[in-house]
Amino acid sequence: MSETTLNDSNSKQFQRFEMEDLQSKWEKVVDYNLSESGVDPVSVSKLLEKSNQDPEDFLSTQLHYPPTQGTKELRRQITRFYPEATIDNVSVTVGCAEANFNAIQALLDPGDELIVMIPNYMQIFGLGQNSGLDVKKFHLEEEKGWSPNLNELEEKVTEDTKCIAVCNPNNPTGYILTEEEMDRIAEIADSVGAWLLSDEVYSGAESEGDSETPSFWGRYDRVIANNSLSKAYGLPGLRIGWAVAPPEIIEEIEAQKSYTTICATILSNKLANLALSPEVRPFLIQRTRDHVRDGYSDFREWINSNGDVFSLVDPQAGAFGFPSFNLDISAIDLVKRLIDEKSILVVAGEHFGLNKKYLRISYGLPQEELQAGLGRISELVDKLK
Ligand SMILES: Cc1ncc(COP(=O)(O)O)c(C=O)c1O
Repeated sequence: MSETTLNDSNSKQFQRFEMEDLQSKWEKVVDYNLSESGVDPVSVSKLLEKSNQDPEDFLSTQLHYPPTQGTKELRRQITRFYPEATIDNVSVTVGCAEANFNAIQALLDPGDELIVMIPNYMQIFGLGQNSGLDVKKFHLEEEKGWSPNLNELEEKVTEDTKCIAVCNPNNPTGYILTEEEMDRIAEIADSVGAWLLSDEVYSGAESEGDSETPSFWGRYDRVIANNSLSKAYGLPGLRIGWAVAPPEIIEEIEAQKSYTTICATILSNKLANLALSPEVRPFLIQRTRDHVRDGYSDFREWINSNGDVFSLVDPQAGAFGFPSFNLDISAIDLVKRLIDEKSILVVAGEHFGLNKKYLRISYGLPQEELQAGLGRISELVDKLK
């Protein structure tokens, strides 16, 4: 394999989304991809089988444009998970990625202040920079079990803060905000009238228990709650996400969509409606949890057997761990060497906004692949000790 470059941008202006660039470049090339944040995906046939659909009904779908906002059936289905929401509160998007993109474009103008939870999936952070926003950070703290430093958030907000962006459950730490922390974040946003943009794609993928991480929706009147079928439902290839927000914001998001994708596909709208139905949804959520929980026990065992190098705060959700490590190499360089020497892809802490030594390692894949991948990481780690 050739010498690895993680960022070959020549542009001074444009902030690349380095983690997604890295995944696009390597995920289909390496022998083992432990960089995914979702679980092994579900097939179309399984989805149709679980919903008792005649495959013919699906195959005879006429391939027209669905409504820009998403089909009414799908939007109605989505409202079931957001108290008091109506279909006018819902915009169906191409993944949560489009929901996040359109929300930032709809809400903020150049120069506006945006405060982002760190570490994080860096889409909103990079979008903020590329859109000329004044982007600030507040942190989750490893030494406090990855709970948020809300005093820092309180200190950072100003009268100019237009939006606070959180990811709950958090990618990459798997931390879930407590009800008290959610209330306090809403209070801080309210103190300056800021919007709260909440990326909730890992809700449903909890490591323990039966309950699902609550949405920020309904906790404060200026909330945009974004989600998708990519993570907790195991359906990333459908490319279906959504934003739930006050109708005037949904209209703005729709206006953005005219420039981005116009709409998601009719096939995806139909399959998403089946996925969220009362007949299928419980199966999908349970399936994801089985992957998360089985994978975690293998991963925890592996961390324990490499306890001289890795230290992990147990994630509360998501099919990934975010251990710190104590080798004499940066995370970025370790990721490069894992690609070049072991043909395995994981993600460096730098790609979540932390310049410390962390790796995000996924465990939502079939057991044999996971074991083989972890084994290859051990080989390089043993060499570097
Ligand atoms: C926190 C978070 N938000 C959004 C996305 C993008 O999701 P989607 O596939 O629904 O566009 C990801 C993907 O990894 C993510 O981790």
